[in-house]
Amino acid sequence: MAEAIATQKIAVTVNGVKYEREVNVRTLLVDFVRRELGFTGTHIGCEQGVCGACTILLDGEAVRSCLTLAVQANGRAISTIEGMGSPEKLHPIQQAFMENHGLQCGFCTSGFVMTVSAFLNDNPDPTDYEIREALSGNLCRCTGYQNIIKSVKAAADKLNQTEPVS
Ligand code: FES
Ligand code: FES
Repeated sequence: MAEAIATQKIAVTVNGVKYEREVNVRTLLVDFVRRELGFTGTHIGCEQGVCGACTILLDGEAVRSCLTLAVQANGRAISTIEGMGSPEKLHPIQQAFMENHGLQCGFCTSGFVMTVSAFLNDNPDPTDYEIREALSGNLCRCTGYQNIIKSVKAAADKLNQTEPVS
């Protein structure tokens, strides 16, 4: 006899929009946002909490969605890269990454942007050391990191000159 699949109904807000879904209790949050809700800007890299590609915000805190179950997000607010800006109007962090060549292939970038978003919210005027420490859990195979550090400094300057977008 087939084993019964345990499911649970969850309600989440993603980028300001409410969703209710019945999910397998073992579904990972990264699979939920990508496959169930279609927010494929959140990437899957290592699937074991090492690379940071899957970073999203849960109630404003950066989390690895590959290490989080979808049911743990029940009743909470999720932010993904799709909520940060649009091609027509980039978020200041995205703009800073573009202007400072903080990306090459872009696979890691959504994870970096979400990490930086939470970081600059907590620490709007960071030192270089604090930036490096904050980014130490995000891996990039392309850039060599120097331009990412520059991008974060530029993003901090932009955000300190303007009202936060989100
Ligand atoms: S895919 Fe989640 S940390 Fe690498
Ligand atoms: S830009 Fe390619 S992995 Fe970071």
